Amino acid sequence: MLETLELASSRAGIESAADILRQGGIVGFPTETVYGLAADATNPLAVRKIFAVKGRPVSNPLILHLGDPAQARRFAVLDETAKLLCDRFWPGSLTVVLPAKPSHPVCSEATAGATTLAVRVPSNAVARRLLSAFGGPVVAPSANLSGCVSPTTAAHVRRDLGGRIDALIDGGRCSHGMESTIVEVGNGAIRVLRDGAVARAEIAAAVGLATQTGFRPGAAPGQLASHYAPTARLRLNAIEARDNEVWLGFGPDAGSAHFNLSKAGDTTGAARNFYGMLRAIDALATKTSCPTIAVSPIPERGLGRAINDRLRRAAHDNSVR
Ligand code: TXA
Ligand code: MG
Repeated sequence: MLETLELASSRAGIESAADILRQGGIVGFPTETVYGLAADATNPLAVRKIFAVKGRPVSNPLILHLGDPAQARRFAVLDETAKLLCDRFWPGSLTVVLPAKPSHPVCSEATAGATTLAVRVPSNAVARRLLSAFGGPVVAPSANLSGCVSPTTAAHVRRDLGGRIDALIDGGRCSHGMESTIVEVGNGAIRVLRDGAVARAEIAAAVGLATQTGFRPGAAPGQLASHYAPTARLRLNAIEARDNEVWLGFGPDAGSAHFNLSKAGDTTGAARNFYGMLRAIDALATKTSCPTIAVSPIPERGLGRAINDRLRRAAHDNSVR
């Protein structure tokens, strides 16, 4: 058991975190999407610690986080479409999978041996200050145990990984609350490998694609069928709670729900609340001996698509009808 150093998002806190990364340590930190677990991308020992602490399959590559969009060219090749997307969405919550340059310094543990690199430049101010203080490339998965619910506050990270990581920067609650959208670009086509905080419609608008038909199918290797799972079972598309169920609602019709992702029926607000409420209602289900969480239907519009993707995976092993 390690003592996890609790750091504030002050200048001193960020400097300590950057030093810990330089020494091969691993650090929990906020991004605008979810909390990440950072390691020096060029240090195989540090990167292996991330996989060990999360219980993550070593075949599942990590996203490279850069402090400055201009750094991406050191690591990867950007075609015209990729440049357009990066100009439009960086800093921000879009991850772009790019062909890696042969001489890039990211260790093969981080890429899982792939010849591509998933790259993102987060917009969260604390994340940017950490990346800039460290100077080099950082890899960061979400700071949760593999397969479990993602973290959107420092308290979530503390609960899952406290005593197993070197330090944790508390930067408050994540403003988007949903992971980055991952796209792969090549041969004029765009594949969405993971729906996330940037809606498909925004990407389509940026590159002049038809939202409904313009995207090619694709999936990130780490998107397991069962993922993001709470302890309680889930019953999806529930219009009310049955006996022995707690209810995670959405919209104005879910008046008696224990938690409501968005009373106004807004998918961006629901995405922001999603992981925090899933954790809270899971705790309530345990406390009240209700084995099942009933979840209201979420519309596929906007960030609803990303929420429904997470719900389907969260329900995969344990769903009830
Ligand atoms: O919002 C986010 O992206 C957060 C924050 C911390 O930045 N990070 C995150 O990382 O969600 P993680 O490890 O939980 O999910 C990364 C996903 C995995 O599904 C992985 O398989 C995929 O990215 N990925 C990484 N490198 C890839 C590559 N070269 N090609 C395709 N998918 C890749
Ligand atoms: Mg994750």
